[in-house]
Amino acid sequence: MLPTKMTPKAKKVFIRTYGCQMNVYDSNRMADVLAPLGYSTTDTPDDADMVILNTCHIREKASEKVFSDLGRLRPLKRERDMIIAVAGCVAQAEGAEIMARAPFVDIVVGSQAYHRLPQMLEEVKNKRRAIDTDFPIETKFDLLPAPRQEGPAAFLSIQEGCDKFCTFCVVPYTRGAEYSRPVDAILKEARDLVAQGAREITLLGQNVNAYHGVTADGSVIGLGALIRVLAEIDGLARIRYMTSHPRDMDAHLMEAHRDVPQLMPFLHLPVQSGSDRILKAMNRGHTRGDYLRIVETLRGYRPDLALSSDFIVGFPGESDADFADTMALAEQVGYAQCFTFKYSPRPGTPASTMDDQVPEDVKTTRLLALQDLIARQQRAFNAASVGCSFDVLLTGTGRNAGQLVGKSPYLQAVHVNADPSLIGSIMPVTVVSLETNSLGAVPAGTAQIDTGRAVARR
Ligand code: 5AD
Ligand code: SF4
Repeated sequence: MLPTKMTPKAKKVFIRTYGCQMNVYDSNRMADVLAPLGYSTTDTPDDADMVILNTCHIREKASEKVFSDLGRLRPLKRERDMIIAVAGCVAQAEGAEIMARAPFVDIVVGSQAYHRLPQMLEEVKNKRRAIDTDFPIETKFDLLPAPRQEGPAAFLSIQEGCDKFCTFCVVPYTRGAEYSRPVDAILKEARDLVAQGAREITLLGQNVNAYHGVTADGSVIGLGALIRVLAEIDGLARIRYMTSHPRDMDAHLMEAHRDVPQLMPFLHLPVQSGSDRILKAMNRGHTRGDYLRIVETLRGYRPDLALSSDFIVGFPGESDADFADTMALAEQVGYAQCFTFKYSPRPGTPASTMDDQVPEDVKTTRLLALQDLIARQQRAFNAASVGCSFDVLLTGTGRNAGQLVGKSPYLQAVHVNADPSLIGSIMPVTVVSLETNSLGAVPAGTAQIDTGRAVARR
C-alpha cells in the first residue's frame, strides 16, 4: 500500500498572555509554531489539549498570578489529557522553581527558545518533562515560520532585551542583552504582514529605539532610518513603535516624527519619575530636563503629538518633594494616557535592597493622587477630540448593530456606523461624542459641527 501523507490530528491550544505587547507578539508566534502540528487556538482552557501561560515577571503580582492560574488548571488536567506549558519571563527567571512547585507542568520554555516547542512536545509524548530557558546561539527569528496576520493592525518585534539596567527592573535579566534584528528580515516580515491585510504596524522592542540593525550592505541603521525605509512599503499606512527610552531618542528619530506622515502622532515615552534625585537612583541615565526637552522638540515637529508614559511611585528614598516633582512633570507634559505603578521590589535587582523602602500606605496615597491627575488629563484629551476630524483605522465590529470600531491616530477607540465591508480600511471621520471609554464619530463631511485637526492639549 502506498503511504498517505499524514495530516496532524486537529488539536486546540489556549494561550493566556500576561504583560506587555512583546508577549502578545510572542504568543501569536507560538500559535504559528504550533499550527503545523495541527493546533488551532481556542479562547478557553476548557476544551484545550494544550494550555500555554505566557508570563510576565515585571512586577510581583504578575508572577504570583501565574502560580494561582496554574493551581486552577490542575483539576482540568486531572480530568483529561492536557499539556501545560509555562512560557515567557517567569519561565525564564524561575523555570526550575516552577518545575519543582508545579509537578503537573509539562513544559517550561523561555522567551528566546519557543521556536523549539515542537521538539519539546516530542519529549512530552515520550513522558518526559521539558525545560528550555537557554539564550540559544541561533536566533528564534531565523527559525520561526512567517507570521500569520489577522486584521489590519499588526505587531512586529524588531528588538529584544535591554542593557540599561534600571535599578528596579528585571528585564535585563529575563530578556537578556539588547539584540536588533537585521533590516532585511524586518522588511520581509513587514511586507508579508501588509500582503495579509495589515495597514498599521507597531514596531516592538523592550528598548525599541535602541534599535541598531544591519542592512544588506553591512552598515548599521537606527530606528529613525528604519522607519523611513518601512514608510516606502506600499499599503502600509501607519507606523508606531514601543517602548522607547528617553536616552535613545536621537535627532534622526525625532526628525522622523516631523518628516514621515505614516508615523502616528502618539508616543509612549516612559519617564518613571519627575525627580532628578530619583531618576539618578533608578539609573535612568536622563534627567527631568532631558525628558522635557525631548517632548518640546517633538511637539515642535508634530504639534498634535499625544504622549503616554510609565510612572513608578514609591521608589526607595522617594520623599514628598520627589513625588511633588513627578506630579509637576505630569502637569507640565499633559498626557493622553499613562501606566502608573507602585514600586515593587524584584529579587536580584539593586533597588530591592536599597535602604529607605517606602511604606505601602504612602505608595498607595501617591498612586491614587497620580492616577487621579492622569485620569483628568485623559478625559480632557478625549473631550478635546470632539469636533476634530481624523482618520480612523477600522478594526472590527462594535457592540451595537451597524457599528464598527477603530483606532484614532492617538490610539483612542472610535465608534462609527459603517458597513462591515469597510473593516480593514481607513476612514476620515469627525468626532461627535465622548463615551465612557471611546469616542463616537460620523464619516467626515456629514457632521453638523466645526471640524479641524486635533492639536496638542497641554
Ligand atoms: N516596580 C514597579 N513598576 C515596575 N516597572 C518595571 N519594574 C518595576 C518594578 N520593580 C514598570 C516600569 C516599566 C513598566 C513596563 O513597568 O514603569 O516602564
Ligand atoms: Fe527595564 Fe529600564 Fe531596560 Fe526599560 S530601560 S526594560 S525599565 S531596565
